[in-house]
Amino acid sequence: MILLTGGLGYIGSHTCVELLKRGERIVIMDNLSNSREEAMDNIKAISNAGFIFYKADLLDKESMRKIFRENKIDAVVHFAGLKAVGESVVKPLAYYKNNVEGTLNLLEVMEEFNCSKMVFSSSATVYGSPERVPITEDMPLSTTNPYGTTKLMIEQILQDYAKANKQFKVAILRYFNPIGAHESGAIGEDPNGIPNNLMPYIARVASGKLECLSIYGNDYPTHDGTGVRDYIHVVDLAKGHLKALDRLAKDDTGVFIYNLGSGRGYSVLDIVQAFEKANGIKINYKIVERRPGDIAKCYADATKAWKELGWKAEKTLEDMVRDAWNFEQKHR
Ligand code: NAD
Ligand code: UD1
Repeated sequence: MILLTGGLGYIGSHTCVELLKRGERIVIMDNLSNSREEAMDNIKAISNAGFIFYKADLLDKESMRKIFRENKIDAVVHFAGLKAVGESVVKPLAYYKNNVEGTLNLLEVMEEFNCSKMVFSSSATVYGSPERVPITEDMPLSTTNPYGTTKLMIEQILQDYAKANKQFKVAILRYFNPIGAHESGAIGEDPNGIPNNLMPYIARVASGKLECLSIYGNDYPTHDGTGVRDYIHVVDLAKGHLKALDRLAKDDTGVFIYNLGSGRGYSVLDIVQAFEKANGIKINYKIVERRPGDIAKCYADATKAWKELGWKAEKTLEDMVRDAWNFEQKHR
């Protein structure tokens, strides 16, 4: 069985659907701090299959043990974590505790139960302010906020642990900017309060819940002056986890690191225009000051994932903006 920590969240729920479609047996654990129980029914409805759910917290080791005692877990896909950059600056201890201590607990319990395979959700944030694009996996790592530092610390912990424990194997997946939703519109990204990230913000302007998108700067050295990112459809990203699990099924052990991005850079204005065109809705926007900590350009060289996993992003920008809007409409 495969355990998904944080499996009711945005990326976890889409990955669960893909795993169930492939016939895998799944256990999800989630403390529901950033997700809802309804996600369970939606996942089941889309995939026409069931899974086992535990409401549990990574910080509670005894309840983690219970999951491993009651199920034969062969591999863990570790999504659970806090992920809001701004909040991590205000509440650094909560981020270190939840993300780093939570992962240490998980690794200790995995060891107790002889479970030696993990796929870990890392982020392009570990490249800090990259010296060039496209970004390859061997580029220098650094961070600019506590959230990013938790990801980098966990990567380091996994490296050290793999050196000490020769049975252990881990795929570290560095996600770029996941957007969009399952084409059914039944699962997607629904942040609480005012969204920080671009796509959910645009969706709420489109639905009239927010008035106007603020575009953070149009004086970057990019094709139209607005920030360039590597947006990846969440379903493509989810499929990358299946390929990573296949990689871990091979005999060798150690640490395998992959960028999961489309390899294409789109600007904020490209996204706004694509959304308007695909969905026939005008997005009000204004140009404002740059957001502190933002970089001009960030996109992946995803060649390694293609060569070693046989994975690449297949969906288009049009798919991403259409599915994001479909989710926003069906969900509300
Ligand atoms: P999400 O918040 O939707 O999902 C994370 C889930 O983990 C939530 O359901 C939450 O309730 C759960 N959780 C958090 N702390 C927990 C704990 N201590 N015990 C049990 N459950 C806990 O986030 P997501 O977008 O699906 O991201 C999944 C992972 O991918 C995270 O680790 C995130 O840092 C990483 N990541 C996300 C992005 C992105 O843009 N969404 C980009 C790069 C990396
Ligand atoms: C964010 C996270 C980063 C994480 C990444 C993955 C922040 C600061 N960084 O990156 O750690 O790894 O998601 O998904 O949250 N923009 C606007 N107006 C808005 C919102 C965004 O113009 O209201 C612009 C930003 O300046 C940026 C682009 O849109 O150029 C994308 O922003 P966002 O969706 O927040 O993602 P990132 O900042 O790339």
